[in-house]
Amino acid sequence: MLRGKKILLGITGSIAAYKSILLVRELIKLGAEVQVICTPSALDFVTPITLSTLSKKPLLSDFVTDKKTGEWANHVDLGKWADLMVIAPLSANTLGKMVTGICDNLLMATYLSADCPVMVAPAMDLDMYKHITTSENINALLQRGVQIIEPGEGELASGLVGKGRMAEPEEIAQIIEQNLVGSSPLIAKKIVITAGPTYERIDPVRFIGNYSTGKMGYAIAESALSRGADVTLISGPSRLQAPEGVKFVSVESANEMFNAVEAVYSDCDALIMSAAVADFKPKNTFESKQKKASSSLNTIELIDTVDILKYSGEKKVGQKLIGFALETDNELENARLKLQNKNLDMLVLNSLNDKGAGFGTDTNKVTFVFNNHEVMHELKSKREVANDIIDALEKMV
Ligand code: CTP
Repeated sequence: MLRGKKILLGITGSIAAYKSILLVRELIKLGAEVQVICTPSALDFVTPITLSTLSKKPLLSDFVTDKKTGEWANHVDLGKWADLMVIAPLSANTLGKMVTGICDNLLMATYLSADCPVMVAPAMDLDMYKHITTSENINALLQRGVQIIEPGEGELASGLVGKGRMAEPEEIAQIIEQNLVGSSPLIAKKIVITAGPTYERIDPVRFIGNYSTGKMGYAIAESALSRGADVTLISGPSRLQAPEGVKFVSVESANEMFNAVEAVYSDCDALIMSAAVADFKPKNTFESKQKKASSSLNTIELIDTVDILKYSGEKKVGQKLIGFALETDNELENARLKLQNKNLDMLVLNSLNDKGAGFGTDTNKVTFVFNNHEVMHELKSKREVANDIIDALEKMV
């Protein structure tokens, strides 16, 4: 559920810090990337080696990570990296610092630099938790939009019984999950997304390809992941880094892409064909590089590639199918026809006539074509268009 999510986990000096070890394990199990930052006094309760091993990242506690080289932990980068910051346990001391802005350790510097949502799980002894200062500080955080994970009631480390013990790790993990993936209908749904160009081989050094970079498909994969979907990204040659958490399948030709799609199609909930699949491939390919002196490449006879989208439309048994179309003339009319011919649920129409749309740009201007209506969108970033596509898919499943 948390695949692709980046979480900063702050641990402060409280006996409940031992429970945070289990919280790290839980978050990693759910697929999150976790960076732990301990305050110096947290290290009286838990050891760096335990936390580094479980989080699979070096534990951070000091500003300077290597005194010899002067390497330091960049709190601004850490704050920008995270999708969510969780401080668990939150001690009365760190609570006070968060309210007043005292910045005397890496955790506080990161908190003040973070622009992601923040949640805290206080852990204190009964009377400390009841103290008016604590209540006022918690209210101050609440007013600033920090989410409080209420402590539970029960026996405390002091032997007193009452409210103050940190929420259990499983409960905190569940709240984190709700916060990060919400209640999207796409949670755990299997979504297959294709991206990038395909290369159709002529000889060992030459191919027929296109200008697609894969930006649109990779952005869609990221958006689907952020809703908790189980994403398979099948990509033609692209320089882009596959988003953390997707099942990545690398292919080269239309035929390879077809095989990869076919292997997962019957078991998926939705297929989004955003790849710019070559429509043609050379009828004959050569095992050795053709010399320019020979006339073998003066004319290349082309044959159709398999239309993956059309094939998927024919085999559809409940999967939602989204295709793309790039048109220059009679755009809407052609798009409606394509939607019907390929048995699609939605077609994303790109117009090459629009500035800022198409291959290689960071923006796109699209119209969503459905069976009985269309939705026109303004020029947006590919990330925003990707979110719009996934919003539309949420309404279909
Ligand atoms: N597509 C596919 N397999 C192919 C070619 C295209 O699955 N061999 C998919 C693309 O991923 C995209 C849509 O079909 O989702 C694009 O179709 P497009 O190339 O615009 O239209 P065609 O149906 O090929 O028709 P035409 O070229 O005549 O517009």
